[in-house]
Amino acid sequence: MPKVLLTGGAGFIGTHIAAALIERGFDPLIVDNFSNANPSVAMALGEVVGGAVEIHDVDCRDTEELVRLVELQGGVSGIIHLAAFKAVGESVRNPLKYYDNNLASMVSVLRVAERFPESAFVLSSSCTVYGQPETPFVTEETPLGNPHNPYGYTKQACERILSDFVAASENARGIILRYFNPIGAHPSGKIGEWPLGVPDNLVPYLTQTAVGIRDHLTVFGSDYDTPDGTCIRDFIHVCDLADAHIAALELALNAEAQTCEVFNIGTGRGHSVKELIDTFKNETGVDIDVRYGHRRAGDVSAIYANVDKAEKILGWKAERSLGDALRDAWNWQQTLSSKP
Ligand code: WQD
Repeated sequence: MPKVLLTGGAGFIGTHIAAALIERGFDPLIVDNFSNANPSVAMALGEVVGGAVEIHDVDCRDTEELVRLVELQGGVSGIIHLAAFKAVGESVRNPLKYYDNNLASMVSVLRVAERFPESAFVLSSSCTVYGQPETPFVTEETPLGNPHNPYGYTKQACERILSDFVAASENARGIILRYFNPIGAHPSGKIGEWPLGVPDNLVPYLTQTAVGIRDHLTVFGSDYDTPDGTCIRDFIHVCDLADAHIAALELALNAEAQTCEVFNIGTGRGHSVKELIDTFKNETGVDIDVRYGHRRAGDVSAIYANVDKAEKILGWKAERSLGDALRDAWNWQQTLSSKP
C-alpha cells in the first residue's frame, strides 16, 4: 500500500482524510502535536476504518523527528500537509502564533520532502488567500488580495514556498487545495469537528448552542452588502473535502516533475450565515437563540468557489448538500455531548 505522510492528521479535516486514505488502500503515516486535537481520535478513527490507527505525537517544526519516522517507514510516496492553525478570528488576535507555526511547519515538512524527492506533495490552503475579491465567485486565476487576516497571509506564503520549492527541484510535484468552509462530520458520528475551548468557527458554535453548551449564537454582522446582510461562504461537507484529497494525491503521484497546480475546493454555491442557521433549524427541528452583533475583524463579506477546474482536471465534485453537512454536524455534536 502506498505510504503517505499526513501532517495534522488528528484534526477535524485530518481525521476525515485519514479515514478516506485507509478506505482507498493507502497507508497513512499520521503525525499531529495535538495542539488542536484530542488524542482519543485515534481510537475513533480505528472504529471508522475497522482497525488500529496510530497517530504519532510530533510537532511539524521538528524536521529530524519527521525524517526519522519517515525513514522507519522506508520512505513515503506522498505528503499531505495540513498541520496549521486555521481560525481567522484568532489569527487577528494572536498573529505570531500563526506566523511561527504555519510558516515554520511548512518549511520543515518541505525539508522532509527534500529527503524523499520522489514524493508528491498536497498542500492544504484556503480561500482566505483571495481576501475580498471584486466578485465573490472566484476562480483559481482570481488575483490574490489582501487576506484581511494573518491566517490568510500564512496560506499565501505557504503556497509561494511550495511553488518555489517545486520550481527549484528536479522531481517534486505539488498540488495546492484552496479549501472554502469545511463543515459537517463523518456520517458514522464517530469523528467530527472537536474544537478545544470556545469554537471560533460558525458551525461548531451553532451545534454547541443547539445542545445547550453555549447560551446563544451571535451572528457577527448583519450590515454587509449581501441579500440578507450576513456574510456569504461556500460551506463544503468535510467528507467531500477528504475525497478531493484522494483525487489530488492520485493526480500528484502521476504528474510530471515540477508540476504545481492550484484547485478551489468548494461546492460552487454560496450560502449566507443566516441561510445556514435557517437550514440547520429546518433540518434538525432544533431552535436556537440567535443574536446579531458587530462584525468580526478579519472577515470578508462574501466568497464562494468556481470549481470547474477541480471537476475537469481532478475529476472531483462535491456530492453532499448543506443540509447533509448540518445533519451530520448535529449527529456528531450529540454523540460528543454524550461522551463521559
Ligand atoms: C464563517 C462566517 C463569521 C462564528 C473558515 C476557516 C478557514 C478557512 C475559511 C480553510 C463568518 C460568521 C462565525 C460565530 C458568526 N478554511 N460567524 N458567528 O472565517 O469563513 O474561515 O473558512 O482553511 O480556515 O476558519 O469561518 O466559521 O469562522 O466564519 O457569525 O460564532 O460565520 O463572521 O462570516 P471563516 P467561520
